[in-house]
Amino acid sequence: MMGLSIALTKGRLEKQTVSMLEGLGYGIEALKDKGRALVFKDSIEDIQYFLVKSNDCITYVNHGVADIGVVGKDTILENENDTYELLDLKIGKCKFIVASLPQNQLFSKVGHIKIGTKYPTVAKQYFLSKGMDVEIIKIDGSVELAPILGLCDGIVDIMETGTTLKENGLVVLDTVCDISARVIVNKASFKLKHSEVMKVIEDLSRKVNADVDTNL
Ligand code: PRP
Repeated sequence: MMGLSIALTKGRLEKQTVSMLEGLGYGIEALKDKGRALVFKDSIEDIQYFLVKSNDCITYVNHGVADIGVVGKDTILENENDTYELLDLKIGKCKFIVASLPQNQLFSKVGHIKIGTKYPTVAKQYFLSKGMDVEIIKIDGSVELAPILGLCDGIVDIMETGTTLKENGLVVLDTVCDISARVIVNKASFKLKHSEVMKVIEDLSRKVNADVDTNL
């Protein structure tokens, strides 16, 4: 048997991913009590975990430094990704939406339209699919602020509870697509460590199905 490296996305997805692994009986005590550490050894399985930012998760798996990654579909859609996407973990559920101030009906606006977003690739593809040639303005955070200050006419962003939009007086004009956490696998690892990789995928898949049944 060969050891595995798994890149986990830190932040919003982290807690739910760790609790899935814990529910499966993986030895993730170190991940639960992590302090500032970034690399963790499983106390039962021959697995090493890394905690990384979402974009970096894809980079580590693309390069085979991590065999497996857990990352949001939003990040997969935005980045160049040469991995196999094998499983929807059905956690971290949210949506890509188009939003604006209520008076700023950008779909009926004539003339130049500016869209602020952390996701320029997703935004560009969405508006192209609508036959609209818009200017994309890349923003790194708190995207909701941009239309309020007049930097753009609308935004493409992630909505989870909708609270941020509501509290800033923005309305949803359209949904681009649903998002959830996915398991990605390095292509070489999929061949060379097939049984090890598939054990993790099958375990996680069992957990996803059990959790879905519980929530029915
Ligand atoms: C995301 C997103 C929205 C917010 C939506 O930002 O960009 O701002 O969450 O969540 P809600 O619908 O539950 O209110 P994030 O918290 O990741 O921070 P950032 O804007 O600084 O990137």
